[in-house]
Amino acid sequence: MARILYVDPLHPERTPDPIREAAELIQSGTLVAFPTETVYGLGANAYDMAAVGRIFAAKKRPTSDPVIVHVAALEQVDQVAVSVSPVAQQLMNAFWPGALTLILPRGERIPPNVSAGLPSVGVRMPAHPVALALIRAAGVPIAAPSANLFSHTSPTSAHHVWRDLGDSIPLILDGGTAPIGVESTILDLTGEHPQLLRPGGVPLEAIQRIIPEVRIEVVERYAAADQEALPAPGMMLRHYAPRASLHLYEGPDRAVRSSIAATLDRLRLEKPQARIGLLLADEDLPALGHYTHDSQIIILALGSLHDLSEAARRLYAALHDFDEQHVDLILARSFPAVGIGAALRDRLTRAAEGKVVQVQESSSHHE
Ligand code: TXA
Ligand code: MG
Repeated sequence: MARILYVDPLHPERTPDPIREAAELIQSGTLVAFPTETVYGLGANAYDMAAVGRIFAAKKRPTSDPVIVHVAALEQVDQVAVSVSPVAQQLMNAFWPGALTLILPRGERIPPNVSAGLPSVGVRMPAHPVALALIRAAGVPIAAPSANLFSHTSPTSAHHVWRDLGDSIPLILDGGTAPIGVESTILDLTGEHPQLLRPGGVPLEAIQRIIPEVRIEVVERYAAADQEALPAPGMMLRHYAPRASLHLYEGPDRAVRSSIAATLDRLRLEKPQARIGLLLADEDLPALGHYTHDSQIIILALGSLHDLSEAARRLYAALHDFDEQHVDLILARSFPAVGIGAALRDRLTRAAEGKVVQVQESSSHHE
């Protein structure tokens, strides 16, 4: 059974004992869960093939899905990756420490199971003080995927980690809520042109200011929910998913609200036993908030449509909440795909496993 040890999220040096204990576990080949600014990670010594193997076992993750290596200093990159290009240097200078993972040619010290046998490796310097303190104390780069069971919703709190992995790892460092709340942006620099593989904590617009030539076809194919397209290793459609089936509503706000209302009215008649979760924005509450009087329906609003960072920060906690409340079905509104909203929309699309309802502007006046 995992112990959960509190660490000071801003000043980890004030809680040295849990950091030291976690670092010793990493050095001995054991797994430790720790906070990053994006989501909680499940860490192992990135140089230790057996320890990395334990990550896949604990998560029940297919070995074809590569994990990201976390570093605490730029010098460490040279031990993890080879031929770091000027473009990579520029991006590191601009965004590290931060929520950007760069796919680079893999260095010799990194065992092949880290990157699922690929000649490349994903590298990131996290911005969370606890993550940095742990990597420094361990003295090795730390390989870490998100600390959840494979295909479950990623964890943004120690409690979320505990629910998925509490039985299989010895220690969870608790640094409070992850401040960004969605995973890092992944950028592949091994091809002819830089290619976005996953929208995330660093907005595409910010990357385009440094490298305007960045390609985004892979993510666009994904946004089209093209089940045939497996754009990158580990990017299968069912991912980041709550246990309940999620239906995502996209379109003009008013049309989305009436469509959700119509669906709710139908479901209440057809499935009176079903527990239904509504994932909304604050702006939807005047039109849909009254459904909360129905004990069948649980409403979670992620905040204002004008604060997508806040919505991103709260998304996974809301999905975990629906899981804990055993909802059978989630109806979710989509969010504008600008800035970090692109990551929000991407994760909702994946959680919906292609069940995206495109709503057209209509003349009906459900509101
Ligand atoms: O924010 C994050 O990135 C979090 C925190 C813990 O750092 N980590 C995370 O890891 O989201 P994970 O394992 O859940 O997602 C890693 C994904 C893989 O599924 C794969 O899509 C991509 O990163 N990836 C990693 N290495 C790769 C490689 N060499 N080539 C292509 N894609 C890679
Ligand atoms: Mg993950």
